[in-house]
Amino acid sequence: MNEDKIERRKFLTKLSLWLGALPAAIISVPVFSALLGPLLQKNKQEWRQIGNAADFPVGTTKLVKFINADPLPWAGTTAKSAAWLRRENEKEFTAFSANCTHLGCPVRWEAKAELFMCPCHGGVYYKDGSVASGPPPKALVRYQVRLNKDVVEIKTAPVPITNITA
Ligand code: FES
Repeated sequence: MNEDKIERRKFLTKLSLWLGALPAAIISVPVFSALLGPLLQKNKQEWRQIGNAADFPVGTTKLVKFINADPLPWAGTTAKSAAWLRRENEKEFTAFSANCTHLGCPVRWEAKAELFMCPCHGGVYYKDGSVASGPPPKALVRYQVRLNKDVVEIKTAPVPITNITA
């Protein structure tokens, strides 16, 4: 009888430990994934299709969106990036990161002035991406672009966040 009680106590102790460990294990998986994910990410680059060349008339600058090269499974909309794509001539395109090199705000294209404007602190860029005025420390980052048959492709890169101490 006494041995039965001891066995039952051991069994209940083990059972309660397992039942306590299970939720901890379930909770720890996403927590550790979120903490370690950015460290494990590689600076992978990937060509992404943007659209047909015919969608971009010569001389125009359009905002294009694409999925980053190595999005985390839980990234959601943050897996998307944007760039300003300009068609220079029949064969040449230029793609500028949509993020200001000051603190990363999205810049907008002012077609009449032919300038990129940053709404956050008044940064201004010329149409070639170089700094016209304001706090941006350097020109807009460029993505590689290629024409694959009639499809425009952008080579994605890690989001170019400027070093704040620059
Ligand atoms: S983030 Fe663009 S000027 Fe500051």
